[in-house]
Amino acid sequence: MQIHIFKDAAQIGEAAAQLFAAKLLQKPDCVLGLATGSTPLPTYDALVALHRRGLADFSRVRSFNLDEYVGIDRAHEQSYYRFMYDNLFSLVNIKPENVQVPHPVSEDLGADCDAYEAAIDAAGGIDLQILGIGNNGHIAFNEPCEVFPLRTHIVHLTESTILANQRFFNSADEVPRQAMTMGIGTILRAREILLIATGAGKAAAVAAMVNGNADPRCPASALHLHSHVTVFLDAGAALIL
Ligand code: F6R
Repeated sequence: MQIHIFKDAAQIGEAAAQLFAAKLLQKPDCVLGLATGSTPLPTYDALVALHRRGLADFSRVRSFNLDEYVGIDRAHEQSYYRFMYDNLFSLVNIKPENVQVPHPVSEDLGADCDAYEAAIDAAGGIDLQILGIGNNGHIAFNEPCEVFPLRTHIVHLTESTILANQRFFNSADEVPRQAMTMGIGTILRAREILLIATGAGKAAAVAAMVNGNADPRCPASALHLHSHVTVFLDAGAALIL
């Protein structure tokens, strides 16, 4: 795990976008793993700026998002599908047929999960995966638990995640209780991983991830099991390392 500490979130956004742009140059038909939430926004903004300057061509890129709520429509302003269109997909030249966001809507949600996992495999696997981290150490919606989940699955959100995400809804009651998420195994199969954490609110989760051994009670600690992980932190997130 290679850790880099930056002054602030804007600097991280620039550095992360450059890492993505380099991947697009190395492998124009690469498969990106994408995240939602506040953390990747400066990265997406910087990537859009690079695209406008002709430095990031998404025309052959395919992407898979980490997760999506169960029970809200794709048109809902808090759906992760909508988030991705508003903040990245509609602002670069990625083809709509090349983007995948989990879509847990069928009668058999387990089948939706299996199909998502199969689609990632059929695309040849993820080349570069971006991750944020939850206050409780979650990555994607893999919440603290006893065994690392291997594959894409349906998860019940913990109280701390519901409380953390209520800022995007009118109240905690409106936050969906379930989500479809890549598993820890799915994430670890990515060839390269970039985890970003910003703000002092993430400092405890970051310290648990960096200082502990791989332990499903801190899902992000699974990244110790991967050989190519980069961590970008701002001063706040690195506070208690
Ligand atoms: C989002 C995701 C989550 C977030 C995490 C941090 O797709 O998978 O794990 O990365 O909850 O969220 P923010 O960035 O809003 O602090």
